[in-house]
Amino acid sequence: MLRVIDYYSPTAEFYDLVGVQRWTQSDPLLATALTGTDTAHGPVLDLGAGTGRSTEVIARALPEARVLAVEPSPAMRAALTSRVVRDEELRRRVTVVASSAQEVELPERLSAVVICGVLGYLDRAERAALWGRLLPRLPSGAPVVVELMAVKVPQPVAPMRIARQRLGEQEYEAWLSGEPCGPDRMRWSATWRVLRDGEAVREIDVTHEWYTFGLEDLAAETGLTAKQLTPELGVLLR
Ligand SMILES: C[S@@+](CC[C@H](N)C(=O)[O-])C[C@H]1O[C@@H](n2cnc3c(N)ncnc32)[C@H](O)[C@@H]1O
Repeated sequence: MLRVIDYYSPTAEFYDLVGVQRWTQSDPLLATALTGTDTAHGPVLDLGAGTGRSTEVIARALPEARVLAVEPSPAMRAALTSRVVRDEELRRRVTVVASSAQEVELPERLSAVVICGVLGYLDRAERAALWGRLLPRLPSGAPVVVELMAVKVPQPVAPMRIARQRLGEQEYEAWLSGEPCGPDRMRWSATWRVLRDGEAVREIDVTHEWYTFGLEDLAAETGLTAKQLTPELGVLLR
C-alpha cells in the first residue's frame, strides 16, 4: 500500500519564514530555466508545490501558463491556497490538487514540470513510474526543473543552522543535521526553534528520510540532457 508521509504539516508555519532568504537566489534561476517554454502545449506541473513559492515563480515567469499545483500535505496546501486566492492572476491560472507524485491524475499534455525539494521522497521504482507518466506528456525541448539536496551520497552531516528570521518580537531558527540510514538514503533531523530575548520558547523536531542521488543520476534514469544550475537546482531537457 502506498504511504506518502506528511513530513511537512507539523512545521508548515515555519516554511516561508526561513525559506525567503534562500529563495532570493534560487527563484530567478528557476524562472530563467523556464524561459522560452511553449505554454500552449498544456499546463505546467508543479509537483510538491508546498506553500506555493515555486508555483508563484512559475506563474510570474510564464504569464500565459496554466499551473497545476499538486501538494499532499494539508498544512502546506492551506498556505498554497491562501497565496493563490489573494492574487487575481494566480487565482485565474493555478489549479491546486490534493495529491502526490505517485497518485496524481495528470492531464494528457504538459508544457513543463517543476519538482523542487520533492524527488528524494520517492524511491527508484516510484521515480521510474513517475518518469513513465511525465515524459510522454511533454513536447520536445520542454524543461523538467528539479531541486535536490546538495548531499548526493549518504554521509554524516553535523548540526548546522540553515536559516534565521525575525518576526516581531521573536526570532526563528532552523537547524539541520543528517546521518546515513541506508546505502542510498539519509535521515535528516531538523529542529525549528522560536526564541524570545534569546531564550527558546518553542522547539519542534522532525526527521525526514531522503534518497540521495544527483542530477546526473536523473539524466540516466530519464535519458534526458541535464544542466546543473546550482549545487541543488538543475534542469533536464526533453
Ligand atoms: C521542500 S518542500 C518544497 C515546496 C515547493 N516546491 C518549494 O520549492 O518551495 C517539499 C514539498 O513536497 C511535498 N511532498 C512530499 N512528498 C511528496 C510526494 N510523494 N508527492 C508530492 N509532493 C510531496 C511536501 O508535502 C512538501 O510540501
